Amino acid sequence: MESQSSLVYLDKDIHYLNCAAKSPLLKSGERTMIEAMEREKQLHLRNSDDFFERPEHVRKLFANLVECRPSQVAFMPAVSYGLSSVLNNITPGRGQHAITVTSEFPSDYLGIRAWCDKHDSELKVVGSDQSLDLMGSDWNARILEAISEDTAVVVLSAIHWMHGMRFDLKQIGARCREVGAVFLVDGTQAVGAMSMNVHEFQIDALFCAGYKWLFGPYSLGCMYIGERFNDGKPIEESWMNRTNSRNFASLTNYGMEYMPDAGRYNVGETSHFLLMPMLSAGLEQVTAWGPDEIQAYCAALNKPLYDLLDEKGWPRVEEAYCSHHLFGLKMPDGISIDAMKSKLEEKNVYVSQRGESLRVSVHAFNTEADIEALMDALNSDT
Ligand SMILES: Cc1ncc(COP(=O)(O)O)c(C=O)c1O
Repeated sequence: MESQSSLVYLDKDIHYLNCAAKSPLLKSGERTMIEAMEREKQLHLRNSDDFFERPEHVRKLFANLVECRPSQVAFMPAVSYGLSSVLNNITPGRGQHAITVTSEFPSDYLGIRAWCDKHDSELKVVGSDQSLDLMGSDWNARILEAISEDTAVVVLSAIHWMHGMRFDLKQIGARCREVGAVFLVDGTQAVGAMSMNVHEFQIDALFCAGYKWLFGPYSLGCMYIGERFNDGKPIEESWMNRTNSRNFASLTNYGMEYMPDAGRYNVGETSHFLLMPMLSAGLEQVTAWGPDEIQAYCAALNKPLYDLLDEKGWPRVEEAYCSHHLFGLKMPDGISIDAMKSKLEEKNVYVSQRGESLRVSVHAFNTEADIEALMDALNSDT
């Protein structure tokens, strides 16, 4: 794959290594939004396709990306909403606990914390005290060890949002299934940029904000909700989630059933006439690129940077647990993270400060020049 920079809006002299914060605007995304705005001027043309067909198309695209049936996909405004939708349908057995990981993203931590408070359950937060280069196997082993017959639910991100360490979803999912625990995964920093298969990993629900690796808009994302929740209770009662919703003349036949499978969990006003087209364009582009190709492109682009880090003795996550699209730079003693961030900004290199690391995120729109600019800053005295 060649650099895809011509497909997004980014100023030529800006080195944007921050897709983990927000993806740049796709030109195709802009086009679809402009078309959607034009349609707002001609509301007499709005029809049931605008309400229902585009969301169906987007569900299929997301389903294809995470390898599930489209009927198990629902739309959410935020991960916090998706997680609550599912947690509301889980009741722990007597004495059961929940598990999450250290420094998990707040929407996940706060959601599971509230669930534990509500059910008077313990929340076990599993971490690793190892350095970046050794934590992968240690952290994953500790999670597996912590899961037992007394575990009701495990909530974690597919990769750690600060430094990109991959959790071993296959082993964790298998262990959860073995003991009957519900396995909930935040895929926001992974899906779109690396492959995902909810069945292989035995994931019960997966939540993805739309505005990062899916190249969609802020405030509209997708979730996979597994079959075990098909008879659950949604957060709200939207008319759109009922089987009679397409027949506008009979909406007051209130007795109608929920839409099948995960259909009941769609956030109200799912159609999002302006945002849904952008999410659609993002997912189409991500599908055309392919997550494995994106990983391969990022790995090749990062190679000189990895060599430099190794030469300097800066730790990085070991190969088996690293994600090439998102990784943390941990400053060695004597180098201030604030000073390094300022140095990078002087060179127009944009990354995020997260915890004790500078989070670098890379995508197919990045070029060798972006990585070189980052390396230049790392090489200069700070
Ligand atoms: C791992 C992860 N999950 C979720 C989110 C967004 O959460 P929400 O959609 O609840 O705002 C982010 C944003 O940075 C994130 O990094």
